[in-house]
Amino acid sequence: MINPLRGMKDLTFEESKRFNFIIDTATTIAKRYGYGYIETPILEDTALFKRSVGDSSDIVTKEMYQFEDKGGNDVCMRPEGTAGVVRSFIHAKLDRQPIKQKFYYYGAMFRYERPQKGRLREFHQFGCESFGEASVYEDFTIITMISQIFEALGIGFDLKINSLGCSNCMPTYRDNLVGFLTEIKDELCSDCNRRIDTNPIRVLDCKNENCQNLLKNSPKLIDNLCDECDIDFKKLTTLLDSANIDYEVDTNLVRGLDYYNKTAFEFVSNNIGSQSAIAGGGRYDKLVEYLDGKATPAVGFAIGIERIMELVNMPKINRDGIYMGAMTDDAIEKILALATKKRKDTKVTIEYNSKGFKSHMKGVDKANARYALLIGEDELTNGTIWLKDLDTKEEKIIPIEDFQ
Ligand code: HAM
Repeated sequence: MINPLRGMKDLTFEESKRFNFIIDTATTIAKRYGYGYIETPILEDTALFKRSVGDSSDIVTKEMYQFEDKGGNDVCMRPEGTAGVVRSFIHAKLDRQPIKQKFYYYGAMFRYERPQKGRLREFHQFGCESFGEASVYEDFTIITMISQIFEALGIGFDLKINSLGCSNCMPTYRDNLVGFLTEIKDELCSDCNRRIDTNPIRVLDCKNENCQNLLKNSPKLIDNLCDECDIDFKKLTTLLDSANIDYEVDTNLVRGLDYYNKTAFEFVSNNIGSQSAIAGGGRYDKLVEYLDGKATPAVGFAIGIERIMELVNMPKINRDGIYMGAMTDDAIEKILALATKKRKDTKVTIEYNSKGFKSHMKGVDKANARYALLIGEDELTNGTIWLKDLDTKEEKIIPIEDFQ
């Protein structure tokens, strides 16, 4: 028997229903906010992720499904969706148009991580990317949209927000931070030591308890923002307050991808174990330019589908469609003809073997059908069918030609 690869899962039965319900709900809400569907390839040039997610990020250095294809190209299975959407946005020259563009997508992402509950090597995201809108109102709107999606799915959450500054305030802050970190270097873990040179901001979200204690006195970016970033961040918090969306300002929230500036956020749940982030995102105003497009502000997010799968409050599914069965072999082809006709507009479940009444009624329940249609010896002789409405419990025998 061949098993799925470690960290990869089949999506079947109850889980696939949950998956579809999540995608349908998120899609309906994203469309209300003006988002249109985009699909980009799973396989991309490795350079795309190195330049966007970041050369020194964990995703790029440790977690990529990267290989040389038969043509000798360095390719990679996408670890996230934003980079591909931005590449596509530039490729289609949408950066040259004055129209604001909004895209939603969903699909498989690949990260070669150590699998555990809520952390897979192949997982699925639903994401949105909004291009051309520099206003912090759009950051607020995106956070509102995610809140609405979670509300519609019956999922409670905590929201963490931070500002990562911009090209005016971030470099000075980074220098200050490096100064602080260099002084306590010997006490920090080896990962942090490596990051002081490669990506000092990421030191802030080190999971090591000792490092976190040492970082308590570190300079905070939120206290060192330039006027514009400070005003925007305060505006965001005021908007969230008036919309009654609870949040916590987490100055150590830096995100694992390097393209963010200004607003960064994460939605977390306490009910799913240690991998608690259920959605993440933020602003990335420099990425389009960085990937050779015309400077375009942008903001987006992605929800981790597998992480919220168990949390979803599934709606009660009503009985639907017709179950058809024969109680004598001679009636099976009659049933088949009726099913073909009815399938033009109705869901039909058909049983090819003739069976007794009780056995068919079990089949009706299993199919969760609204109607049961059976033909036994009497019906066959009389040219009739037996029909039952499982909701009203009404039963009747009618001429076969009256069955529409
Ligand atoms: P991210 O925070 O890396 O952001 O991923 C978004 C969500 O994907 C996470 O909050 C988590 O729920 C889920 N996720 C990540 N890794 C795994 C995994 N190994 N197994 C299961 N679920 C996982 C991004 O990917 C950005 N592209 C989001 C974004 C869009 N920012 C701007 N636009």
